[in-house]
Order: sequence, then structure tokens, then C-alpha cells
Amino acid sequence: MKKTGIGLIGADFSLRAALIECNYPRDRAEMAAVCDRNPEMLERYRREHPDSGAHLYSSYPELIADPAVDAVCVMVRDQYHEEIAVAALEAGKAVYLEKPMALTVEGCDRILETAFRTGSRLFVGHNMRYVPSILKMKEVIDSGIIGEIQCAWVRHFINYGSCYFRHWCARQETCNGLLLQKGAHDIDVIHWLAGGYTSRVTGMGKLSVYNRTKDRLKEGEAPDRKASWKADCWPPLSLKGLDPGLNVEDHNMILMQLDNGVQASYEQCMYAPDSERNYTFIGTCGRVENIGDFGDCQVHVWTRRGLRRDPDIIYHLKAGDGGHGGSDPNIVKAFFDFIRDGRNPVVSPVAARNAVAAGALAHYSMRHGNIPMDIPPLRPELVEYFAAGQKPR
Ligand SMILES: NC(=O)c1ccc[n+]([C@@H]2O[C@H](COP(=O)([O-])OP(=O)(O)OC[C@H]3O[C@@H](n4cnc5c(N)ncnc54)[C@H](O)[C@@H]3O)[C@@H](O)[C@H]2O)c1
Repeated sequence: MKKTGIGLIGADFSLRAALIECNYPRDRAEMAAVCDRNPEMLERYRREHPDSGAHLYSSYPELIADPAVDAVCVMVRDQYHEEIAVAALEAGKAVYLEKPMALTVEGCDRILETAFRTGSRLFVGHNMRYVPSILKMKEVIDSGIIGEIQCAWVRHFINYGSCYFRHWCARQETCNGLLLQKGAHDIDVIHWLAGGYTSRVTGMGKLSVYNRTKDRLKEGEAPDRKASWKADCWPPLSLKGLDPGLNVEDHNMILMQLDNGVQASYEQCMYAPDSERNYTFIGTCGRVENIGDFGDCQVHVWTRRGLRRDPDIIYHLKAGDGGHGGSDPNIVKAFFDFIRDGRNPVVSPVAARNAVAAGALAHYSMRHGNIPMDIPPLRPELVEYFAAGQKPR
């Protein structure tokens, strides 16, 4: 079988493009084309990959039109996801699209409708679905040991959160809000493990810390994207070099009513001193919680009445090899298994849409007096088509 020709858009290999470059299966795929609107990235690719035969492009329509490209990997900022994914699907290419799927529910639905109409394969990069702690909690819940899930609470502490206030994520016009950029992962995990999708959401959020920082970047000045991972990046009010027009919330809280009766909450703080995604699911016979998320961590289970410090089961988990606790190599493998062998992955475009829907409407709610928002349903034909693995019709 011919190797799949990859067309990668967004060629900064110190950022998300590395996901594909480090993990694509060399026996089943090859880098056919690379695109970036920044000529320095193309120059760097040429320098660092002297043996690569990949065609280089500065505009994505040219890459999509290249007959050597079978699969388009969209590794650029969220505001372009919709237009690039739709163009690639229209051209009959398979698409690996980074999360969040798009900035709006309407944008997601346009992508799903295009994939449905054209039959081009669509895959969304929700790599949290391959993280060991999430998989263990899913296994615990599916075993039935904690009974029927009734509620989910998720707290997301982020000590590198200032990073998002340095570049395009800082502004509503290019990111919508951090419930999409960060929260889409967590909302998707809540939906997946609780077995339902949000039908109604309400949100409360605020920008109260990073808007008070001084010595911002000048308009158009390049941010230092690595600064927020350094130990001296503290306390938040002392930080310099943030975006001059930042206007997304740095604290978000949302309440979700799921369509299967489960109730959930998600809290996200972008100026916390430590970092963890902490999930708990409570059922009619017990509770499960992760302690630590990506690296070596634990999953605790309580099935008896007692103390929080005395879970009756503790799973000790090891991070897998590769980025994000080992989830990155696994999600890339799942993409190629899907487009080449038709194996239906655990990531789902409909779930990706529903995560954006909850996040986007929660932002709308918090910006309009915290009103409850109902999630518009997706056409049943689309739900069925994607659930069945996008089989040719
Ligand atoms: N799943 C994960 O764990 C994870 C982690 C990090 C980032 N991401 C996702 O990766 C994506 C990329 O994020 P980023 O901050 O690196 O994006 P970015 O757009 O800032 O940079 C990536 C590269 O894309 C290029 N680029 C941007 N727009 C372009 C366009 N229209 N045409 C051609 N090239 C373009 C830039 O020049 C840059 O080299 C985002 O969607 C983000 O949500 C996912």
C-alpha cells in the first residue's frame, strides 16, 4: 500500500507541529509537503531536514492542492481551523485537526457538514483521551464499581497560564476564550467519562489578574512563548511582556447539565501557583479521582463510607513515552489507523463539537449576565455517520 503523503500546515516544530514530526509512522506515511506563512519556519525546515523531499509552501491552499498530499495536518492557531479544515475536506483530503475544533458551534457544524457531504475523513486531536490517568478513570467507571455516575467536578490549576496571555490566545477575537483553548480537553473528558453531552450550560468568569500587569508588549511585537514555563515566572502580577490587548478571562467557572441527567462543573484558574487537572466523578456506589495528571500519578477509588485519605483502591500509573503522558504517539497512531485501515478511534468529531459548544456558550453566558444557554443539537444523520466511523455511503 502506498505511503500516506502528509501535508503539514503550521511548521513551527518547537510547537505543536512536533506532534506529527516526532510520531508519524515512517513505514506508513511520509512528509509530502510543509506549509507556513512565516518564511523562517520553511527555511528552518529545509536546514534541519536536508534529506526531506517535502514540497514547501507559504500558503495553505497550495499545499491542499498538491496531489502528493493525502492527509492535511492542521497545526495552526484556532482562528484558522474552520477555513483550513473545510478547504482540505472539500479537496478530498483526510484531516487531522488540532483542538479546539473551531471557535464557534457554527464553525464546528460547517466542518462536520463538509466531512459528511464529501466523505473526506475527519479526526480531531483530543489527545487527553489517550492519557493514562483518564483511561484508568474511564475503566473504573465502565466497570460499574462506583455505580451510576451522577456528577463530575473538575478543577484545572495552571501555573504556566500567563503563556496564554502573551500571544493569540489572549484575545477573544482570535481565541474566543480559554474554555475552548484549554477547557475543550476537560469538557470532552467530562462528556466521555460521564457518558453524555452538555445540553445546558451557564458560566461565570473574570479577568482580574493579567489585566493588571505592566510593561506589556508593543502591538505586533513577538512574544517570548517559553517565558511562562520558567521558575522565576512568578508572582503573576509581576510579569512583563504580556499581550497589549489581552481580554480573555483568566478565571472561568461553568456549570453543565448533561443530556443523561449527570451534572458537572469545571473551574479553570490561569494564575495558580501549581498545575494539575483534577477530575472527580461520583456515582451511586462510590467516587474516583486522579492525583496528578500526565506524569507518574495515582487514581484513587472510594467504594465505602470513610475518610478521604483512605481510598480503598489506589492505582499507581506510569507516564507513557512521548508527549502529554504518552498520549501524543498514541493519538497519531490512531489517526493513521483510522485513515488507512478504517479503525474507528476513541476520539470523535461530534464530541469535539460538543466540547466547543459547551465552552463557547459558557463564555457567551458569562459575558451576558450568566444566563443559561441551551446547546443546539446536531443533525441526527451527522451523529449517526460519525458514530459509525465515517463509513462510505
Ligand atoms: N492537543 C494539545 O495538547 C495541544 C498543545 C498545544 C497546542 N495545541 C494546538 O495546536 C495549534 C497550534 O497552536 P500554536 O500556538 O502553535 O499556533 P500558531 O499559529 O501560533 O503557530 C504555529 C505555526 O503556524 C504558523 N501559522 C499560523 N497561521 C498560519 C496560517 N494561516 N497559514 C500558515 N501558517 C500559519 C505560524 O507561523 C507558526 O509557525 C492550536 O490549535 C492549539 O490549540 C494543541
